[in-house]
Amino acid sequence: MNNNTNKVKVSSPKGRPLLYWVGKKPIEQVQGYPAQLIEVFDPKKKDKFLRIPKYSELEKNWHNLLFHGDNKEVLATLLELGFRGKVDLIYIDPPFASNKDYIRKVELRGLKDLGRIEEDSESIIQQTMYEDIWKRDEYFQFMYERLILLKELLAETGSIYVHLDYRMVHYIKVLMDEIFGEGNLVNEIVWHYKDPSGSVKREYLHKHDTILFYCKNKENYKFNVDAVRIPYKEGTIKQAESGTTSFGRIVKVHPSGRLPEDVWEIAIINSQALERTNYSTQKPEYLLEKIIKGSTDENDLILDCFVGSGTTCAVTQKLGRRWIGVDVNKGAIQVTSKRLQQIIKEQQKKLIDGHASKTFAIYKVNNYDLQILKTEAKELVIQQYGITKIKTDPFFDGLRDSGELVKIIDFNHPLTLLDLQLIVDELNKRPDEDRDIVVISLGRETKVDAWVEEWNKKQPYKDTRTKKRMRQFIVFDLKDKNFVSYEPSKAEVEIKRIGKDKVKIKITSFISPTIIKRLELEPGLLQKKIPDFRSMIDVVLVDTNYDGEIFKIGFSDVPEKQSDLVKGEYELEVSEKPTKVAVKIIDMLGEEVWVTKEV
Ligand SMILES: C[S@@+](CC[C@H](N)C(=O)[O-])C[C@H]1O[C@@H](n2cnc3c(N)ncnc32)[C@H](O)[C@@H]1O
Repeated sequence: MNNNTNKVKVSSPKGRPLLYWVGKKPIEQVQGYPAQLIEVFDPKKKDKFLRIPKYSELEKNWHNLLFHGDNKEVLATLLELGFRGKVDLIYIDPPFASNKDYIRKVELRGLKDLGRIEEDSESIIQQTMYEDIWKRDEYFQFMYERLILLKELLAETGSIYVHLDYRMVHYIKVLMDEIFGEGNLVNEIVWHYKDPSGSVKREYLHKHDTILFYCKNKENYKFNVDAVRIPYKEGTIKQAESGTTSFGRIVKVHPSGRLPEDVWEIAIINSQALERTNYSTQKPEYLLEKIIKGSTDENDLILDCFVGSGTTCAVTQKLGRRWIGVDVNKGAIQVTSKRLQQIIKEQQKKLIDGHASKTFAIYKVNNYDLQILKTEAKELVIQQYGITKIKTDPFFDGLRDSGELVKIIDFNHPLTLLDLQLIVDELNKRPDEDRDIVVISLGRETKVDAWVEEWNKKQPYKDTRTKKRMRQFIVFDLKDKNFVSYEPSKAEVEIKRIGKDKVKIKITSFISPTIIKRLELEPGLLQKKIPDFRSMIDVVLVDTNYDGEIFKIGFSDVPEKQSDLVKGEYELEVSEKPTKVAVKIIDMLGEEVWVTKEV
């Protein structure tokens, strides 16, 4: 693959019925992006990883694939790499347009055991993982494009499960009918989650999600009914054996259980569950287990392009199938990678060989690294300026305590006249709005100040006596205020050879100014100190033979429990020849610090 525009043809949907929205456009051609191999998990140091994961090459010696990037670009890349028609099962759990931020609960390590902090209390820093605030039309277009691409990747015998809730399922059903064909709907699965929480007065508690299950072709899609039969209760079997109930006949015909139904009772993940990752939208492994067992055989290929905490990959790995995971959020990639490392280590310990313990490689498609820093900075601004978020307003970000409406301009560009014009367009739709507008940006174009002065002068009086005008623009440029003095995390690591084929690695200090800042900003935490710097460290990864380009995880320290700290001190084997050792430390906010040394 190369950088040139290598366009891939995509067939447009022909089905009916049709859902219409402003800006509806099928994609007929997409452009793949080069996928850059950035990290591999290879504790046994024996797998060959492909720099360019072409399907034809991978087929000969498979390793699983985790992509960090926007899924539209990644799916296009997969088409270009020869994955058309190769995927046996797709499961997606896209953002729901639910108007809330998804929160990854960040808990510092080790503090619970010191008896200081209970779960859900102060040491949890809430980090916004992604913002789920879609305008409806944009959301439909977003889903339309992804679903069209997914269909191209799906095998003739393949199936797709789309996980939704009551707000979006009816629209997406119509989209699915258009793209996959109404006749290819297999089931509408209701996941009824047993969860006693909640209180409502004028409605019923929402206790289910809906999963739309479509196949590519009703004539020959794969479905393993026996793999998902529901085991009989013990009593039933006994009664059947003694021939006392009418179940007797059925049990004899289907010894493995009764036929599976489309309503699934599965509890949500409880706070103590082993599988819990603290990713707020994480789905139960058992849910994926049913889907995967029902719709695939061993060694089949499963794709999840909204992978989140990696539930699909985790279950796929455990069930000995092949997987591809995609997420735009670096935090999600880190959580997934960490989760899979643990599973693979466990499998390798138990000497499960072959596909069950296949390792994986992480690729980057385009660069979305800035995401974490941007949401981080936005949260800081919101706290610093006393802003209350308004979830119901699709345009403005919040309200200041002093009464102004607030618009935060994306920190990836300085404030421009176009940004201001968009605010004016919005105000024009709200003739009764007379509050002042605070615009927060990181930098501003030179013409901005003159424009603001002009605008402010032209506004009608709110009060003719005091000559106070309405809708005054106030620009807070964070660059002027020296606000975003972002300081990266820092680590000191001793790396030295001890003996001819051993290296000793010791983390002697680690500090994340962002974590410290966040703890200080959370009320009640001001005084609390972090007793051990390792509380701030989530994961330590080591490559003892770093080639300066691809990080090969030969050793990883991923404590299983939140209450455990990383060891911070390691003795590892290393080649007798001079080599470069790279240590990657990932902190609890997902920021990475690298230290490398020739030994
Ligand atoms: C509801 S969560 C998935 C949770 C997952 N099923 C689990 O069990 O953890 C949706 C995920 O989609 C990701 N996402 C949203 N837009 C995306 C895009 N354009 N490309 C890739 N991933 C995206 C988000 O970062 C988030 O992790």
